[in-house]
Amino acid sequence: MPLRFATLSLVLAAAASSAFAQGKPIPQLVKNAGKYTFLVDGKPFLILGGQVDNRVFVPDEMAKVLPGFKSYHANTVEFPVPWKLIEPKEGQFEFAAFDRIVRDIRAHGLRAIVLWFGTWKGDETAYLPEWIQSNPARFPKAVDADGKASNSLSPHGAATLEADRTAFAALLKHIREIDERDRTVILVQVENEPGIVGPARDHSAEADKLFNGPVPSGLAAGNPLATWTGVFGPQFAEEAFTTYYMARYIDSVAQAGKEAYPLPMYENVWMGGEGTNDRFYDFDRPGDSYPSGGGQSHTLRIWKVAAPAIDLIAPDIYHRSAVIYRTILSRYTRPDNPLLIVETGRGLEFARYCFMAIGDYSAIGFAQFGVGIGMAANGEFGPRFADMAANFRLVGNAAPIITELEGTKRLQSAIEEENIPGRTLSFDRYDVLAMFPPALAKQPSWVEPTGPPGIPSGRVLLAQLQPDEFLVIGFDSTIAFRPPAASGHKEGRFVQIEEGLYRDGVWTPAKSLPAASPARGLTLPKDGAMFRVKLQWD
Ligand code: DGJ
Repeated sequence: MPLRFATLSLVLAAAASSAFAQGKPIPQLVKNAGKYTFLVDGKPFLILGGQVDNRVFVPDEMAKVLPGFKSYHANTVEFPVPWKLIEPKEGQFEFAAFDRIVRDIRAHGLRAIVLWFGTWKGDETAYLPEWIQSNPARFPKAVDADGKASNSLSPHGAATLEADRTAFAALLKHIREIDERDRTVILVQVENEPGIVGPARDHSAEADKLFNGPVPSGLAAGNPLATWTGVFGPQFAEEAFTTYYMARYIDSVAQAGKEAYPLPMYENVWMGGEGTNDRFYDFDRPGDSYPSGGGQSHTLRIWKVAAPAIDLIAPDIYHRSAVIYRTILSRYTRPDNPLLIVETGRGLEFARYCFMAIGDYSAIGFAQFGVGIGMAANGEFGPRFADMAANFRLVGNAAPIITELEGTKRLQSAIEEENIPGRTLSFDRYDVLAMFPPALAKQPSWVEPTGPPGIPSGRVLLAQLQPDEFLVIGFDSTIAFRPPAASGHKEGRFVQIEEGLYRDGVWTPAKSLPAASPARGLTLPKDGAMFRVKLQWD
């Protein structure tokens, strides 16, 4: 009997229907019983994305990249909208390029995440309009304690904020006008990896006055006279101060945009702080190794107070280490923050983190940066993207099941980590052992490995569909099942093993495999497969 995907819960349907304008409902992030779901067209949506290079706000360039999304198996394009290209002269907006890009994305059956390169784009200023750059008196840069200007615009510049609000509101109003019917644009990033690069805070007269004034009541735990240094300590005071005013600024920009068109909005973060430093050659300090004022994991509490219009804070993760990757994922998965990865690195190492983010941290989306860079002549994204494409093919196919089970113990992942070639997962009625290549050689941990280490590639997602039925999606691993020790049963047996895919929501087996012993396992090939297995205890 083919399995049909479960229908949406009534609560999600109600949330979706309340958001209907005309036609398709506006995309929404909803939280139900502690679990976040991203709704697009009223249905749970798992973002499987690719971010194009920063310079691709050119319709002809975008047209070259878009066909590659098909074999990348992604459903969402993230593309930048540089302020200077939509408002080259103050008050004069040009949306022709934007319109063509959105039309092309829609024609390819894809969704879009718009990245607003406004006041801040990391440590780069090339995306700012000339009329902003050439007028530092009106649009001031943050200065250090000696009065030397940094490259970053100050979060205390009132005229800059007003100009950014105006431009961003015009952009969102325009998106509403051209896209309200289709909802191609599903999410908006406000600024890009914002913060001050240079000093931890601006030392302008305006900033000094605020820094020497009281901490806003929302942060001072009821003490309106508390100082920044008194509340946050000398080490953290300047970063906390910048974070608060940066978050207030970006919240104000987001509010202006939402008044025009209330799409969900998020902030992306250049990693740093607490051992997650992106630049190993720099001391891990705000303004130095990462922009001061961004949504670092240790400043999230301030962002959540200061920027209610920002629906989530998304870490950009380029670390190859599984230890650091997991640390970051766990810090950004919070009751007040659903996990979304809008930028991650390229190559095989990163493929396994997609499974980790979805299976263990209920990510609402996962995307690699730089799709199209180094594209093959045939328009495919090339070998650095091939492993994620293989992930997306299978994960996208099972997305309705994944989004339904995310946030429950019925969906879990195991990935191969450096020197951790196996992991036991515990499900109701079954223990599952995922083994990755070195473990398949059955080497205990005290045996020294021979030969150079390979790139860890093993990854598996397990969805418990029924008490005795699993969907297994994975690569380069062997998955064994046993009843839990306390069950009183020693072994189980496979009743059925089918390899297949879902077609229009219906499980469609391509072949049945002979029932092996569940304790010895089911082997998933290097290039991946999806299995549905039924088990029975003896
Ligand atoms: C992080 C930025 O947010 C992106 O826009 C891009 O410049 C990448 N770094 C490049 O690795």
